[in-house]
Amino acid sequence: MARGKFIVGTNFKMNGSRAFLQDLVENLNRADLDSNVEIFISPPSVHINHVRQNLRKDIAVGGQNCFWKSSGAYTGEISAEMLKDAGAEYVILGHTERRTLFKESDSHIGLKVASALAAGLKVIACIGETLSERESNTTLQVLFRQLQAIVDHIQDLNQEEKWKDVVIAYEPVWAIGTGRVATPKQAQEVHAAIRRRVEETVEGSVAEGMRIIYGGSVNLGNARQLAREKDVDGLFVGGASLKPEFVEICNVLR
Ligand code: G3P
Repeated sequence: MARGKFIVGTNFKMNGSRAFLQDLVENLNRADLDSNVEIFISPPSVHINHVRQNLRKDIAVGGQNCFWKSSGAYTGEISAEMLKDAGAEYVILGHTERRTLFKESDSHIGLKVASALAAGLKVIACIGETLSERESNTTLQVLFRQLQAIVDHIQDLNQEEKWKDVVIAYEPVWAIGTGRVATPKQAQEVHAAIRRRVEETVEGSVAEGMRIIYGGSVNLGNARQLAREKDVDGLFVGGASLKPEFVEICNVLR
C-alpha cells in the first residue's frame, strides 16, 4: 500500500462562528499552498456544509466526531452518513477530549471507526498517553491498547481497502493545548513503534502505507523539525489552526 501525501489537518474543536470561519476560508482560498501536501479542516459540524460550499476544492473538510449508528432514536448524535452528506470527507475519532470528557471507551471508538469507514469517510484515529502514563513508562502499552480496539473492530473489513482510509494521529495528552510539544525524537520513536505494531497486528503493507501524524501544540516554530522525522507523515493542528500561521504550517515541506 503506497503511503499518501504528507497531511496537515486541523481540529477547530468547539470554536468559530460562521463569520469567523468564512474569513478563515477566504484566507485559505487566497493562499499559495504546497500541492504536495494534503490538507483537511474540521469545523464544528453545524458549519461543515457552509465551509464545504465556500472552501477551495483541493482542501478536504472533516467532522470532529460521529456516532456508530446510521440513524434512529439517538438524540443529539450525528452519523457518519450525515457528515458525508454535509460534505465531509474525513472524521476525527478517539480524540482525548472525547475519551475523557465524554467517557468514550476504546471499544466505542473502535465501533465508530468501523462505521465511519463503512460509510465511506476517511478516519483520523487519535491515540495518546497521559503524562502520568508516560512517566510510568506505559506509553506504548496504552497506545497499543487503544490501537488494538480499532484493529479489532475493522478486521472484518477488506484490509487494504479500509486501512488506506485510516490515518493514525499520535496526540500525547500532555502536549494538547499545553504549549509543551513532543520533541521530534519522542514523536519519531512513538510513530516508529506504532508502525511496527501495525505490521505485527495487521499487515506489513498496511503498516508501510499508513500515515501517522503528530498532534499536540504544533505551531510554526516546531512544525518543520517534526516534519523532518522519517515516520512523521503529517501534522494535526489545534490552536494554531485558528491563526494565519496555519498557511505556513501547511507549507512546511517547502
Ligand atoms: O486534535 C489536535 C489537537 O488536539 C491539538 O491541539 O491546540 O495542542 O494544537 P493543540
